[in-house]
Amino acid sequence: IKLSSSMFKTLKAMTKEQVVAQAVKTKECNRMLEVGNGKGRDFLGWLHFPSSVIEKDMDDIQLTANSFRTDCEVVVIVGIGGSYLGARAVITALANSFGALKNERPVVVYAGHNISEDYLYELSEYLEGKKFGIINISKSGTTTEPALAFRILKKQLEDSIGKMNAQKHIVAVTDKARGALHNLAVKEKYKTYIIPDDIGGRFSVLTPVGLLPIAIAGINIKQLIAGATDMERATSSDIPFENNPAELYASTRNELYKIGKKIEILANFNPKLHYVAEWWKQLYSESEGKQHKGIFTAVVDFTTDLHSMGQWIQEAERTVFETVISIASPKYKVEVPLDSQDLDGLNFLSGKRVDYINKMAELGTQIAHVEGDVPNIKIELPELNEYHLGQLLYFFERACGISGYLLEVNPFDQPGVESYKKNMFALLNKPGFEHLKPGNEIRSKL
Ligand code: PA5
Repeated sequence: IKLSSSMFKTLKAMTKEQVVAQAVKTKECNRMLEVGNGKGRDFLGWLHFPSSVIEKDMDDIQLTANSFRTDCEVVVIVGIGGSYLGARAVITALANSFGALKNERPVVVYAGHNISEDYLYELSEYLEGKKFGIINISKSGTTTEPALAFRILKKQLEDSIGKMNAQKHIVAVTDKARGALHNLAVKEKYKTYIIPDDIGGRFSVLTPVGLLPIAIAGINIKQLIAGATDMERATSSDIPFENNPAELYASTRNELYKIGKKIEILANFNPKLHYVAEWWKQLYSESEGKQHKGIFTAVVDFTTDLHSMGQWIQEAERTVFETVISIASPKYKVEVPLDSQDLDGLNFLSGKRVDYINKMAELGTQIAHVEGDVPNIKIELPELNEYHLGQLLYFFERACGISGYLLEVNPFDQPGVESYKKNMFALLNKPGFEHLKPGNEIRSKL
């Protein structure tokens, strides 16, 4: 992948010199990740994970995936946040958009990322009478949303095929020693994959957390890791700043933040990238949004959202910059047909590829937004495949670590997420949380 060579030209708000002036500080932050002397240093396992994944482990994941692919019509991926978004990002990007409707098997569906009763009802109804399996992913093993969904789905599976058979169709991905899911998996003798201690949820897509569901969807995990491994090398602090995409991206977004560009919009011109953007949104917001600092992350799918958010981006508060993921070549070819009547007036496009029209929309948008004072960063992938997606995911992870250090926060914790949980547990009368109930005398003194 490459960051647009015209990036500096398109940044109206900054000069190349300003960005390069940040080189020293940015490189220091990258080195802090490598040396392991920064904040959150116990959670740096992801940094060299791609280059240290061994063939045998990937083969084992593939073997498990193959048995799910053979035995199941549907596989439910249970998880939330970093325990599910990475898999959904890669699967949505690389699987056929209409695969499920074309009867491609297995169908991959998701649960445990919300607490909607209607969602769970409809999912259970859909699974009725189908051969299904469950991949339950939770590092802590105690997160309410996935635990709740799993309890319901586990019962449905056991009721349908019996406890013994159900055990063969359930895999747990969790901590090696702690948590309710770990204990449950040991007790029920589920096949288990370990989430390394030193890798937090949102940095775990290239571990079994992402790899198992991705392999189940029929996607080549070795290629994904190969891309990530190459990007691991390309973003090492030995690589000069000017050629180091993670350092350039981290530095540029922080400079923009300093001059009042408080919102970063990740834009794509291909709906297959929607969940890559959702994964990115979580990665950066949960890593950087603390101590009353951090860029607010937003996602748009173009050209769809040019007919909604486009107005805001073009003319509202000038607090926003845009990062565009662009795919150079599509996988398939569709040309605009000639129509002898030309009633729709589209003959000026006949014979043109749809992707050519999309690229002109992309360029037109970039020009309009830059002219409207929305600085623009372009990340280009030659094509959407496992290798380049592996590069992209690692690139964003590396840049996020560097960026968090530039911002002087710990990018690897998420203390703010606990607040809603405590209130919810208190409201649900979870033992040990009663004192936190709204209106409780002790709470009001806290
Ligand atoms: O990035 C993170 O750490 C979080 O988003 C977690 O992945 C999310 O809260 C789910 O946690 P767990 O895997 O413990 O269920």
